[in-house]
Amino acid sequence: MKIYLAEHRGFCYGVKRAVDMAISSADEGCLVHTLGPIIHNPQMINRLKELGIKTVDQLAEIPEGKVIIRSHGVAPAIYRQAENKHLTIIDATCPHVKKAQQAAHELVTAGYKVVIVGEPHHPEVQSILAWTNQEAAVIETPAEAEKLPNYSRLGIVAQTTFAANKFDAIVAILKSKSEEIRIERTICTATDFRQQAAVNLAKKVDVMIVVGGKNSANTARLASVCQDIGKPAYHIESASELKPDWFINVQAAGITAGASTPDWVIKEVYERMEELTMHDVIHLENGSLIKG
Ligand code: F3S
Repeated sequence: MKIYLAEHRGFCYGVKRAVDMAISSADEGCLVHTLGPIIHNPQMINRLKELGIKTVDQLAEIPEGKVIIRSHGVAPAIYRQAENKHLTIIDATCPHVKKAQQAAHELVTAGYKVVIVGEPHHPEVQSILAWTNQEAAVIETPAEAEKLPNYSRLGIVAQTTFAANKFDAIVAILKSKSEEIRIERTICTATDFRQQAAVNLAKKVDVMIVVGGKNSANTARLASVCQDIGKPAYHIESASELKPDWFINVQAAGITAGASTPDWVIKEVYERMEELTMHDVIHLENGSLIKG
């Protein structure tokens, strides 16, 4: 069996940056906490724990030391509260999220009604909303866009991981709601690239293994885009979940991984698949099929 790795897989730029910042902030001399899990991956949370970095849900739980703000970003009030507590802030907000926060803030300050297109309960959307002083509307579907009233000035911002085609459909409706409209297309391409690479690879192989936390929405989406083109795709969190049955009569298998999956977890899966199937394995970085 040949094993291929998707061209875009695993950590995106923002998650890698946040994890690197967290790891390098580990400090035996002081307490280090992340506000919310830094990524949706239990293995990584454990690794950080081993380095002495704990996860908390509220600033109130941190008595002193360093606080790491994760890639989703937080409300402006959190920075103020952390400063008042004399905590050292390690700001790992993804620069793409920061851009969305700033765009929303500038629009609301300039007198625009801000509409955030995204999942209302997602922490990133909550953080963007906070930068509008809770004044923005959050919508997720074209039906919700239809229901909005007309505004004299309308500014639109996107959740960074929102699907581009869905965003465009919603914007098309919102265009009829205002004479003066500003569109900030704050969508990050990392998610699209990863999904496209998964589909491209799934077309070439017999089975796809999708690696990532069971609570990671973007990993689940990778599995479903592979299944949508008719390929079996198994969502696993670690190598121990691989089953030999999945590879019976399989000539080629593909591996992809969600944005919160560390490289070492992908490597363990790859090595376990090698062990299970033993021969004729090739390692590719770009997902293209070449003879092994
Ligand atoms: Fe940032 Fe895009 Fe990742 S917004 S956290 S690089 S998915």
